[in-house]
This record gives sequence, C-alpha cells and structure tokens, in this order.
Amino acid sequence: MPGSLVQFEVDDGLIHHFESRSVGIRAIDQQHAYFLDLYNELITQIHSADQPRIILSPFIAEVFSYTEYHFRTEESLMKTLKYPDLEQHRADHRDFYNRFDDLTGRLEQRQAELSELTYLIRSWITQHIDTYDKRFGLYYSTLKAGRR
Ligand SMILES: [Fe+2]
Ligand SMILES: [Fe+2]
Repeated sequence: MPGSLVQFEVDDGLIHHFESRSVGIRAIDQQHAYFLDLYNELITQIHSADQPRIILSPFIAEVFSYTEYHFRTEESLMKTLKYPDLEQHRADHRDFYNRFDDLTGRLEQRQAELSELTYLIRSWITQHIDTYDKRFGLYYSTLKAGRR
C-alpha cells in the first residue's frame, strides 16, 4: 500500500499516532492505542534506563498477553462478520507472534539485540495495522453502510 507509512510519525524510535491511523472500529482503535503506548513506553525506558534488560521481562510478558487478547478480539469479530480474508489476516498475526516468540527466546539467551525487538514491534505496528487492519476496517464500514 504505497504511502501508507505517512500516517505514522516515527522519530527517536517513538510512534506518534494520529486520527488517520484509525481503522474505524472503536474497540480495535483503543487496543491499538494501548499497544502503541506500550511500545512508546518501552522506548522511553530504554532511553532512560541504565540497564535496559532489567525492565524487559514485564514488557515482554505484557506484549505477549496483550497481543493474544488483541488478536482474539479481531479474529472473533472477523469470524462473526464472515470476513473473507480472515485466514490471511490470521496468518499475519501468527507470523508476528512466532517472530516475537523466537526473538524473545534469543534475547533471553543474549543472542539478539534490543534494537531487533523495537524494530520488529515498530515495523509490525506500522505495517500490519495500516494494511491488514485497515482493510478489515474498510470491510466493516462497507457492511455497516449496507445495513442502513
Ligand atoms: Fe490490530
Ligand atoms: Fe490484525
């Protein structure tokens, strides 16, 4: 989706989100906002902490549990609304989850850099939300318009 990244302003590693980031489904937008806050909080902590690894475990645990919760929310709504691209969307969720799982395992063994983690989360947020989630948002708004 060309130009999609203009909807995110990334500087100093932080992601600033705007109204244009909305997928048009309030519950999902709120969860994305929380996810972005979580990410920005991590970046802020990394910049201020003497030893970033100390603060990593609770963050990773929270991302794991929140990601599961968020994916469940989206996928169950897609199922309810008979979204035709559900399987493709689910595969992208699973891909992120697996990559995150793999990376955190390597981080624990000190075989990965912290920057890989922030890069993975940042690119996932900007790419997945702005393509897959927005596509579902479009489907959702089309359905809603049809029901009027
Ligand atoms: Fe999402
Ligand atoms: Fe999604």
